[in-house]
Amino acid sequence: MTASVDARGVAHAELPGLAGFDWPALGAELDANGVAVTPPLLSPEQCADVIEMFDVDELFRSTIVMARHAFGEGSYRYFANPLPPLVLELRERLYPPLARIANLWASRLGEPGYPERLDELHARCAELGQHRPTPLVLRYGPGGYNCLHQDLYGELAFPLQFLIMLNTPDQDFTGGESVFVEQRPRQQSRPIVVRPGLGQAVIFPVRHRPVPGARGYRRVALRHGVSAVHSGHRNVLGIIFHNAR
Ligand SMILES: [Fe+2]
Repeated sequence: MTASVDARGVAHAELPGLAGFDWPALGAELDANGVAVTPPLLSPEQCADVIEMFDVDELFRSTIVMARHAFGEGSYRYFANPLPPLVLELRERLYPPLARIANLWASRLGEPGYPERLDELHARCAELGQHRPTPLVLRYGPGGYNCLHQDLYGELAFPLQFLIMLNTPDQDFTGGESVFVEQRPRQQSRPIVVRPGLGQAVIFPVRHRPVPGARGYRRVALRHGVSAVHSGHRNVLGIIFHNAR
């Protein structure tokens, strides 16, 4: 993995794909469609590195076998601190542009805003007893799926999160679509399906987003899940910014 070491001796992963992100366009895509798919963020080598991490027990603080909780079929593991450099870098580098979108949304909905820096968000989380890191890796085999849900881990929830596809769809696995359902007040729910390619990220709301209506913006709730994997294995990295109780 390409990495550099800073003056404090902290290793930093390199994210050349991030330079190609058009944040105004991604914000517009979120507003128009509810979710946004980015250009490739991780290289194929970085994706392979993260898939390999799944089997390194020391990297994780807990493992969830989804069938035991009726969450679905498959398993996921929450990274422990210190986060691997690549995971830390993704969380730190994507937070500021996403915080700008989150603050625009907060102003539209009349909600309190979010700090400009991730460490400030985490200080607020700590005041509410939310200390544990939430980035995770997920693995689904044939028949694997994930029920519709929201990733809330306490009182404070930063409103945007993202996942990164670590496989090549149709080559490494079939099925396993990323599914989203928007619950619009007094209207039927709207399904959204996206197919990120290798290394691409999907940015989506944790809980709700503002949608313009006749009397200003209103909240539209979103839940996310994964449809059944038909063959092969589907591996994903999930980055959530708020910490967990
Ligand atoms: Fe989730």
